[in-house]
Parts: sequence; structure tokens; C-alpha cells
Amino acid sequence: MTIWNLGSINIDNTYAMHHIVAPGETLAATELLTGLGGKGANMSVAMVRAGAKVAHIGAVGRDLDWPVARLAEYGVDTGFIASSDVATGHAIITVDRAGENAIIVYPGANVVVPIEAVKAALGEARPGDKLVMQNETNLQAETARLAHEAGLWVAYAAAPFSAESVAAVLPYIDFLILNEIEAAQLQDATGKAPDQLGVRDVVVTLGGDGAAWYDGANAQKHVFPAVKVTPVDTTGAGDTVTGYILAGLDNGLSMPEAITLAMKAGALMVTRHGTADVIPQLGEVQAFQP
Ligand code: RIB
Ligand code: NA
Repeated sequence: MTIWNLGSINIDNTYAMHHIVAPGETLAATELLTGLGGKGANMSVAMVRAGAKVAHIGAVGRDLDWPVARLAEYGVDTGFIASSDVATGHAIITVDRAGENAIIVYPGANVVVPIEAVKAALGEARPGDKLVMQNETNLQAETARLAHEAGLWVAYAAAPFSAESVAAVLPYIDFLILNEIEAAQLQDATGKAPDQLGVRDVVVTLGGDGAAWYDGANAQKHVFPAVKVTPVDTTGAGDTVTGYILAGLDNGLSMPEAITLAMKAGALMVTRHGTADVIPQLGEVQAFQP
């Protein structure tokens, strides 16, 4: 089955720094890495590397379109990525010695995805396909509704977090993934705990403490331990976890199996500088012994 991903595509410039720059400070980076990124592209790459068939829906500028060629090279169907007069999105990512990051995102073409691209993609979707979105493009609510009406299983990664964006897609989604800070923000905004949102499956990632799965079908909560590693760069780890969960489910794994595999993929990812380009392959994840 195909996983359709309405998602951002960025050029990531990752700067290794002694510390995150403070207001008014000028600081030289010790290293620069330029590569493919964006939460959407990261998820597409994670899903293909985990063994799924993935089609990406999005937009890039005519200025710089090598990210699309790279997605295609990695095995993602890029036939539903529009060309825009707005510049390709990019991110400036600074990473300190402890692996903590600070990120500036220029959304660019990511927020002018044309509805035609979504409709063309969903026109090709088949029963049993999945749709995933994050919060770095436009059109999430419309796309969630259209996909839900077409009978697709719909997943939403609430990153970067906006309570309004989550509220807009809630009626149409089957799976929600967010981190514990976002889960608390959502609870503040809605007055509802993750298991009260009316979404069948909710996964809350707990950083160094692993992840919790709220299994709506059985009204149960399951906790999965983290895989302990020394972080070098946490950027893209959340996207990798989400991608591995969705691809795992698509490959027929149970939710506990998919989350367990994704915890390993995320752990391996934080040991690497960079984003989409360095997301681990399924074989590496399976062989990984922290
Ligand atoms: O989640 C990491 C991603 O956030 C980076 O690749 C960057 O492009 C931003 O979108
Ligand atoms: Na990384």
C-alpha cells in the first residue's frame, strides 16, 4: 500500500557550534553540513528506508529543486510535488556539543502547496493507503478531510506544534503523534487528555523516557522504554520515529512492534549529525545494539 505524505521539503544547513548563539553574540561554527530536510521529507525518507512505498505531496521553488531529485533518488515518488515561484524552504539548524538544537525555518514554498497537487494525489490513492501530515505546510485540514472521506487511514504528527492545527484535523485523523510538551499544551488548549481526543491511536513521545501509546480501541495505555544512547544531534529523530511507526504499521507490524522498532531507529538517528540523508536503513536499525 502507498503512504501519501503531505509534507515540507527543506534544505537544511546544520551548523555544529560550541553553544547555541545568544542574543547579540557572534559565533563561528566548527562545521557546516548541507542536506535534505524538512519534517515532511525526513518522514518520507524514514518511511522508504523502513520499507514502505511512499508518495510525497508538497512544493519547492524553481530556484533550488535538487531536494526533489534527492527524494526521488532515495525511492520516494515525487510526482505530486509542485513547482512554485516562492523559494524552496530552508532551515538553519545550530547544534551544540550536547546535541541540543535551535532551528530557524523559512517555510517558503512549503506553505503554498496547491490544492490541485493534493487532489491529484488523492485521485490515485487506493483503499488501504495511508495519509500522513505534519504542521509545516498549508492545507492540512482540507487534506485530512478529503483523505478521510476517501477512506484512507489518516495520521498527523503535531510538529511544529499548534493547538489550532491539531483541532482542525482532529475530526478526520486515526493516529496522532506528539511529544510530551505538545501533549501538555494540547491538554491546556482543549481540556482533554490524549485518550479523550476521540482519536483511536495516540502516541506521546517522552524523549529519554521512551513513548506512550494510548490504545483507544481497548482504552489502555502502554509505555515503551527509550533506547539509551549519547546524543550527537537530535534533529530529525522525531520525524524518524514517526516515519518508522507508520511504515511498520503499513508493513503489518502491530503497534507495539512498530513503536519498539521506531524507538531504536530514533536512538540511532540521534547519534548522527544531519537529517534526511542520514536516516538509518531498516537493516541498520534491526542490527543496532546500543
Ligand atoms: O524536524 C527536523 C526538521 O525541522 C529539519 O529537517 C528542519 O528542516 C525543520 O523542518
Ligand atoms: Na540527527
